[in-house]
Amino acid sequence: MKLINKKILVTGAAGFIGAALVERFLEDQVKIIGIDNFNDYYNPLLKQKRVENIERKDKKKLCKILNINLKDKNNLNQIFEDYKPDIVVNLAAQAGVRYSLENPDTYLESNLLGFLNVLEGCRNFNVEHLIYASSSSVYGGNKIMPFSEDHNVDHPLSLYAATKKSNEMLAHSYSHLFKIPSTGLRFFTVYGPFGRPDMAPMIFADAILNRKPINVFNNGDMSRDFTFISDIVDAVHKCCLKKPMSNKNFFENRPEPSTSFAPHRIFNVGSNNPINLISFIEKLEDELGISAIKKMKPMQPGDVKSTFADITKLSKWINYRPSTSFDKGIHLFANWYKDYFKSNYYRKPS
Ligand SMILES: NC(=O)c1ccc[n+]([C@@H]2O[C@H](COP(=O)([O-])OP(=O)(O)OC[C@H]3O[C@@H](n4cnc5c(N)ncnc54)[C@H](O)[C@@H]3O)[C@@H](O)[C@H]2O)c1
Repeated sequence: MKLINKKILVTGAAGFIGAALVERFLEDQVKIIGIDNFNDYYNPLLKQKRVENIERKDKKKLCKILNINLKDKNNLNQIFEDYKPDIVVNLAAQAGVRYSLENPDTYLESNLLGFLNVLEGCRNFNVEHLIYASSSSVYGGNKIMPFSEDHNVDHPLSLYAATKKSNEMLAHSYSHLFKIPSTGLRFFTVYGPFGRPDMAPMIFADAILNRKPINVFNNGDMSRDFTFISDIVDAVHKCCLKKPMSNKNFFENRPEPSTSFAPHRIFNVGSNNPINLISFIEKLEDELGISAIKKMKPMQPGDVKSTFADITKLSKWINYRPSTSFDKGIHLFANWYKDYFKSNYYRKPS
């Protein structure tokens, strides 16, 4: 299914997920306006490279990517005014759990103030549908597996998680007050080509290839529901095609957290297949043909031990079926990594 005659605003368009999503939208031949502030949380050359890829594929000049910070309300409003998007996909955020312990201010600026500015834009310019990134980190202290949208998410373990949970609350209030259909997507550890240098796949690949030790937190007793980038993009794209409406069967005496009397829904986007950290390292060692030097470390503050996505709700909603197995995904990631860094665009993914 294609998005026809829609104008789409993608925030965080130079980011890992944003750039892959923009490439997907180009296939639908829709007009896209991307914004990003190209910050240096990780090497901005990688963001630039993603934008170059988009420009190369954008034969019909359907996409424009502009350097705008979400916290600059006037500049953001001008974008809404000039382009009048039908759909907004908000992916711009300060990501990362560990970084939020040292740099709390950037989380408030981008994830709270920036998100409020996006909501105001949707309100003032009658956006048809807002899709926004939440995160598996909202499950925080929850230990019931797999994580379901019906579980309580009132116990975040990091400021990052708290801002993502706040996004869900803010979006719900705007959906209710201003009837803005909104879909919140809780992504689970996304990986793949052009991925994020601050996440385990890139950090480990770099260390293994350079024969440097890797820190194995909680002595390896951790697991993540790794989800390949094309499955994430597929889910976001399909969600763009389906606007939530007020749930007429919403039972206010026993409210289900993921649905509402307001046109608002929340979904997990994962692979429903948690991978143990040690198996993950072994698979990467196989792909790279080099053994890792492992340094066992205790659990990091703010981290969760395991994530595991229940994807029943999203499967029912958009027929979501993750199609990239972990073996295939790691193979694709490792091949991209070797190839990309061989060309020495920049050497170290820091
Ligand atoms: N990658 C994952 O595993 C994962 C998991 C859960 C949730 N998420 C969420 O998905 C979204 C996309 O993540 P990603 O992995 O592509 O991260 P990313 O860091 O690669 O992309 C985010 C982009 O947003 C931009 N940005 C940050 N603050 C901004 C601001 N104030 N104004 C304008 N642009 C700004 C950054 O420059 C970056 O290019 C984020 O909201 C993130 O929290 C990602």
